Amino acid sequence: MASRQNSTKINARELLSKYSGKLPAAELDQLLSLAWHKNIEYIYKHPEFKISVSTAKTFNSLVVKRLAGWSLAYLKGYKEFFGYKFLVSPHTLIPRPESELIIEETLKYLKQSKIKRANILDVGTGSGCLILSIAKNYAEAQYTAVDISIKALRIAKTNARKLGLKNKVKFIKSNLLKKLKDQTFDIVIANLPYLTPQQLKEPSIKKEPRVALLAGSDGLSYYRKLLEQLTEHLSKKYIILLEIDPSQKELIQETIKAKLPKAKIKLLKDLAGHIRIVKITN
Ligand SMILES: C[S@@+](CC[C@H](N)C(=O)[O-])C[C@H]1O[C@@H](n2cnc3c(N)ncnc32)[C@H](O)[C@@H]1O
Repeated sequence: MASRQNSTKINARELLSKYSGKLPAAELDQLLSLAWHKNIEYIYKHPEFKISVSTAKTFNSLVVKRLAGWSLAYLKGYKEFFGYKFLVSPHTLIPRPESELIIEETLKYLKQSKIKRANILDVGTGSGCLILSIAKNYAEAQYTAVDISIKALRIAKTNARKLGLKNKVKFIKSNLLKKLKDQTFDIVIANLPYLTPQQLKEPSIKKEPRVALLAGSDGLSYYRKLLEQLTEHLSKKYIILLEIDPSQKELIQETIKAKLPKAKIKLLKDLAGHIRIVKITN
């Protein structure tokens, strides 16, 4: 009886068609590839292939999770970002393509400026996607990353190891800069939570950690505190790059002027043409 059940096979294409209209075809193919442990090209090349009952069950449960709002990155356990593969978990934000601008600007600055062994700090590192992508492309710097979530830091450390950057970045559990005594930094990058309670209602982000997203009634509570604390931690010449929501462009400039009155502020647009990064220099 058991062997008869094991030998039952299910037509993969028929299974996929059961869900057509509920999820995009490309996503269904990815979920099947995940359940079947086959790459996506294999799925495309073998539409009529038969799969086992247990693979079909795994696929069905992945579809149910996806329909309940889990993103593909969480189901797969990783996200590609800046050409690298970053492990993610429900304790980390899923890296977003618009954040790559922080990496590009940092690398540009490192190559143009004459700083020897720049001290670089990433505040709210999450999966470590920003600082590790920079470290992968620029060896001659000292890297520190903080996060309030120990679970996120564990993922970041695993990502460092997998990218061949073990011990390259000092990861510290810290509420903003509290644990960083007397250190100064030439470059500070931060993609801290910046959403308002209203923006948090967006369904596509409902499975991502609140601690990675929400920041007070105007979304700037963390940046306000960070800028306050940073005044003690900046080198003579510095650059700060902060990711924001386009709607915060005026408020963030006022906040920066209040904390760093002599600083120069530039707003940078992401690929979609939205103001996304604030560049602060002196
Ligand atoms: C928007 S996520 C960004 C993660 C990552 N840097 C990225 O770009 O994908 C914000 C991160 O800030 C962390 N965080 C929130 N509050 C913090 C605090 N008070 N001090 C340090 N990190 C904090 C969260 O745990 C989360 O990992």
